[in-house]
Amino acid sequence: MDTHLKALLVGCGSISRVWVTPAHDIPNFELVGFVDINVEAAQKRAEQYGKPDVYVGSDLEAALAQTLPDIVFDCTFPSARTRIVLTALAHDCHVFSEKPMAESMEDARKMIDAAEQAGKLYAVMQNRRYDTNINSVKLLVDSGTLGALTVVNSDFYLGAHFGGSREQLPHVLLHDMAIHTFDAARFLSGANAVSVYCKEWNPRGSWYSRDAAAVAVFELNNGAVYTYRGSWCAEGLLTTWESDWRLVGQKGTVKWDGAQDIQAQVVEKTEALVSTFANVPIPAEASTWGEGHSAAIRDFIDCVRTGRTPQTICTDNIKSLAMVFAAIRSAEAGCEVKVEW
Ligand SMILES: NC(=O)c1ccc[n+]([C@@H]2O[C@H](COP(=O)([O-])OP(=O)(O)OC[C@H]3O[C@@H](n4cnc5c(N)ncnc54)[C@H](O)[C@@H]3O)[C@@H](O)[C@H]2O)c1
Repeated sequence: MDTHLKALLVGCGSISRVWVTPAHDIPNFELVGFVDINVEAAQKRAEQYGKPDVYVGSDLEAALAQTLPDIVFDCTFPSARTRIVLTALAHDCHVFSEKPMAESMEDARKMIDAAEQAGKLYAVMQNRRYDTNINSVKLLVDSGTLGALTVVNSDFYLGAHFGGSREQLPHVLLHDMAIHTFDAARFLSGANAVSVYCKEWNPRGSWYSRDAAAVAVFELNNGAVYTYRGSWCAEGLLTTWESDWRLVGQKGTVKWDGAQDIQAQVVEKTEALVSTFANVPIPAEASTWGEGHSAAIRDFIDCVRTGRTPQTICTDNIKSLAMVFAAIRSAEAGCEVKVEW
């Protein structure tokens, strides 16, 4: 029989909705409380969960003392994250946070140190790693069919009209969205970034106050080059939120639209100017945990139970965060910079 685990959910805004849903059907697991500085938001999430005696409040320390959870789910935003994670770890809780991990590399390192000292797991939500299609592309790359990777390209073009304060945030595309794409690039390539040159700008007519578009060129530690092109104020012919990808290996190429369309070819013969190619079947494997947030949460809870390390453990996720902050540093300095964590 699995150990019974209790989790406290902190930050009850829009994304927290999808953190509540899986709690209903994970065996021997319960949400014991909901905390938000806006207590009405906490109350609303508690109502979604539908358990009458669940704790609702606005003070994290008080909630931890009263509910004694094993796990804290942190769905606040990055400016609140460090304090919440450090408090939860100090109360001997494992922590699973929303992305991005931190507002600065210094804060990210503080949380890593605290998790190590507490001997607890601290992992970050990168739900896109649990998508069936990205896992098909990864299986193909890892099989060696395409040969060693030489180029990874991703394009992200969306016209996202969020309204409100999000449109005023500095580095909004790189910090809030590109963290997903950079993490996916690391996931697909199995490599880490070494250096980056990035140009960040606000396109003419942008409804953002700044930084809604960026182009970045990363050198990876497997010798491949990863290019990112993105805009949050591009109207028409939108890409998916997962981006449009091309990964080129020494023997062939895979293209993925971020949704169902995955196509791959490898060299058949090279006898003329241009080789002839054979289409490659795309591998498919049912995910153990399901899809998206729900899968990531199930996987994390299993890690707590079994002592396995989550794939988005803080010590790994900081390598994706480092790509974000290095890209920002490069854009500000106007030169290539090292990616360090
Ligand atoms: N993984 C994804 O696909 C995905 C999608 C959307 C948002 N997110 C991330 O989720 C996080 C939250 O985003 P959101 O859209 O739900 O924002 P939101 O503003 O709707 O919700 C955040 C909530 O946190 C609460 N909060 C802030 N500081 C707090 C504190 N100190 N203690 C307790 N509660 C506090 C706010 O009152 C608010 O209710 C962000 O980091 C965002 O980037 C991730």
